[in-house]
Amino acid sequence: MCGIFGLITNEQNLPVAQTIREGLERLEYRGYDSAGIALVHNGSIELRKKAGRIIDINKDGWFDSMQGEFGFGHTRWATHGKPVYNNAHPHVDCTGKIALVHNGIIENYQDLRKELSLRGHKFSSDTDTEVFPHLIEEFMGKGFDLKDSVISAVKMCKGAYGIVVCHADNPDYMVVARKESPLVIGIIPGKTTFCASDIPAFLPLTREAIVLDDNEVAILRPGKVEIYKIDSGEPKTFNQFQVNYTMDAAQKVLDGKNYKWFMHKELHEVPRKIRDQVGVPQADLDSFAKTIMDADHVFITAAGTAYYAALAGKYQITQFGGPYIQAILCSEFVDALPEMPPNSVVIAVSQSGETADTMEAIRYAKEKFGAKICSVVNVVGSSLTRYSDEVIITTAGLEIAVASQKAYCTQITALTMVALRIAELRGRLTENQVANYHQALLDSADSIEQMIIEEGKIKEIGLKIIQSENIYFLARGLSQSAAMEGALKLKEIAYIHTEAYAAGESKHGPIALIEDGFPVIFVAPPDQTYDRLIGNIMEMKSRGGLIISVVASFDERVTEISDYTIRVPIANTIEAIETSIVPFAFALQTMAYFIANEKGLDPDKPRNLAKSVTVK
Ligand code: G6P
Repeated sequence: MCGIFGLITNEQNLPVAQTIREGLERLEYRGYDSAGIALVHNGSIELRKKAGRIIDINKDGWFDSMQGEFGFGHTRWATHGKPVYNNAHPHVDCTGKIALVHNGIIENYQDLRKELSLRGHKFSSDTDTEVFPHLIEEFMGKGFDLKDSVISAVKMCKGAYGIVVCHADNPDYMVVARKESPLVIGIIPGKTTFCASDIPAFLPLTREAIVLDDNEVAILRPGKVEIYKIDSGEPKTFNQFQVNYTMDAAQKVLDGKNYKWFMHKELHEVPRKIRDQVGVPQADLDSFAKTIMDADHVFITAAGTAYYAALAGKYQITQFGGPYIQAILCSEFVDALPEMPPNSVVIAVSQSGETADTMEAIRYAKEKFGAKICSVVNVVGSSLTRYSDEVIITTAGLEIAVASQKAYCTQITALTMVALRIAELRGRLTENQVANYHQALLDSADSIEQMIIEEGKIKEIGLKIIQSENIYFLARGLSQSAAMEGALKLKEIAYIHTEAYAAGESKHGPIALIEDGFPVIFVAPPDQTYDRLIGNIMEMKSRGGLIISVVASFDERVTEISDYTIRVPIANTIEAIETSIVPFAFALQTMAYFIANEKGLDPDKPRNLAKSVTVK
């Protein structure tokens, strides 16, 4: 997490500070508790930083009015140290000549800090980051140049980093380095070089990009880049490539309509994104499906919303006749699996392709046990895509709202496509049957379109529970994914305490809290779990629970026993029912959005959260 944006240019008319500030604003989804900018100006460092959001900090052009030839900025998501001025980046060394921004976590910072303090260095923050400028200061004091000092400093640090460093006495270059934290370079050859935590941050400025790999350091000059391996110090030849996606997604406009929030707009994009996903290239689908079929053991891993999509994928693949899949949260992966069996495959699901825990899990599985990695990823060129044996790219496109929704919908659609392909290859379904399921997935996009037209009805239900402090979300089987996603969305953007539980398990504890009016939301599609779920609804109802159910449009029995229903317009066919998880989850995502909006909260940037979590 944390966003980094820097630039160095020889173009006289490029407003350096303002361009950096605008780049940082495009990265605010990565963290937004404080921000700062450092520029090299006439042989000294000009530094401004403050707690708060960039838009507030830059009131009256506080950042934009900074003077300097080149430099960088940072928007922070606090890990070590509170979100206050001292802990905001950039950080400087004792001489005030070296400035640095960092994304990641340095695990041995306490030891390094003690040693540096004993040698007389003065620290002004609680961050792990601040050891970097002081280490670099020491190596420069020994006569190393900036690049070699950075190399020597990072070699002493354990953990993850994407860093950018400048020195006031080096007027024509800055240095970047990375290990397990994203950092990409954009270039206008001969003129300007940018560095950023992701590609969209510099897309309005250039489409030419260079990916810095782990354990590499680069010298950035105006329109010129040199990359070196950290281990050997050897220069590396690298490719520059053209980014082919557009920034339309970064506007709050869709089909000519202006939206107040990205989340609302992105929910409205879901139908078209599902249709795109059904068109996943056959070759990608085939090799992904065959790799899973050839494995003796299959695991699936992810974090957050992506994990709930992974759970749905696990159910779908197994239900359609594929192998049993063990789902493990990526943050638990290493501890849960001290050993992995031979010939394992790990399916990793991620929007960003940069989540540190996901990367740690798959590195562990691949490097230690030779597992193959099949990933479902949204961001092309991300670390996960580069590290995987098989990749299916989701078609969500750029997703700005921190709480993911269209990525979730496309991830499930992609995994359902994999499930159907495995069923076909194993002879469990005929080509015609698979075609019917594909049609059902396309119809699920129509169903969502219909819900969007009538979204006011979902809002009305949301208003019934807007004052609630606690809400349960219960479901069985595949629908648990929707229940968990609905609960998470409401928790993270509307700040209501929610808990998702397997409905059958709810009588083993959660039921103790039920009293008159306690809201319990059931995800109740007419699948094989339906009759048993009715039993669970009755258990809650008879204790006074306020029953809200998400049901198929043709539902009768659950409707009869519910206080309110959200109706999902699907056809009464096996294919439609078995592929209805996305529309059911969509209904709950939409409800969470309306509750957050109605409470006057910012659903795009919920407090304490970040979109891309690149720390473990
Ligand atoms: C954060 C985001 C979530 C996301 C999760 C996993 O928590 O706020 O929206 O689901 O990270 O991220 P990934 O990029 O791996 O899908």
